[in-house]
Amino acid sequence: MNIEGKVCMITGANSGIGKATAIGLAKLNATVIMVCRNKDRGEKAKEEIISLTRNKNIDLLICDLSSQEQIRNLVVKFKEKYQNLHVLINNAGIMLKKRKVSVDGNEMNFAVHLLGPFLLSNLLLDILKKSAPSRIINVASAAHKRAKIDFDDLQSENKKYSLFSVYGVSKLAEVLFTYELSRKLEGTGVTVNALHPGVVNTNLGRDMSKFNQWFGKVFFKSPKKGAETSIYLASSPEVEEITGKYFVNKEPKLSSEESYVEEDAKRLWEICAEITGLNI
Ligand SMILES: NC(=O)c1ccc[n+]([C@@H]2O[C@H](COP(=O)([O-])OP(=O)(O)OC[C@H]3O[C@@H](n4cnc5c(N)ncnc54)[C@H](OP(=O)(O)O)[C@@H]3O)[C@@H](O)[C@H]2O)c1
Repeated sequence: MNIEGKVCMITGANSGIGKATAIGLAKLNATVIMVCRNKDRGEKAKEEIISLTRNKNIDLLICDLSSQEQIRNLVVKFKEKYQNLHVLINNAGIMLKKRKVSVDGNEMNFAVHLLGPFLLSNLLLDILKKSAPSRIINVASAAHKRAKIDFDDLQSENKKYSLFSVYGVSKLAEVLFTYELSRKLEGTGVTVNALHPGVVNTNLGRDMSKFNQWFGKVFFKSPKKGAETSIYLASSPEVEEITGKYFVNKEPKLSSEESYVEEDAKRLWEICAEITGLNI
């Protein structure tokens, strides 16, 4: 796909990997729709991206992706303004030291890494299909590899909350969602892949100790490097027809054994459909 002039939506585009992805796609002359939860942070990043890339086709839409109502409003606003969507990058993410729930009452990792991408992708499927060939890219994490889904405690209510373990489970759920969606989209011209961006120095660790933040600054890769696989999956003709894969460093790799259990993926899909009220 020649990305020039193509419409690309990136969630969490004001910081870290999302912002670097927006810059990369803007440099390739794509039309970039930044989805951010905070207007000031979004505007600041948008101005920076325009001045850096000289691409004026950068738009900002405000949405807190932990709120199902805000996602529905975002989709309405987007469809009022745009006739096409060629690339959707579900990138927004969090790491929280303490358990938090969304405005809808869902545990925050579960809400932002699974329910948000599930609802947003499904509500945009009609326009993605109409714009095919088109692509959905889910920014997951290698942290999914240590995780197991506990269907009796999907919202981490019963066991002691642990930042890395809850994050990892939500990222495993995101990979399972990617594979299930790819099976449902077979033959539509819409591909969907997941990726691990590497260990990247971003704002993700803001809840962590000062030492961990210093360590990240010194030893982790830059957001520009961390965005390379997202930009590759969004724009490269090499992956035009590749779907249902997990990429690391621009190459398909095996994800964890748990992520390939179709029964779990289907069960998770049904749970998401019920929570979001989608009749699919
Ligand atoms: N950094 C790494 O080493 C690493 C490794 C593996 C995977 N990842 C994944 O990469 C993705 C990007 O993270 P990052 O490292 O670039 O972190 P980051 O710098 O903290 O960026 C995360 C972005 O997501 C946005 N966001 C968070 N919650 C949101 C919500 N409820 N609604 C809308 N936007 C929301 C943030 O907005 P605010 O600025 O307003 O908070 C920010 O723009 C995440 O999915 C993360 O899990 C990162």
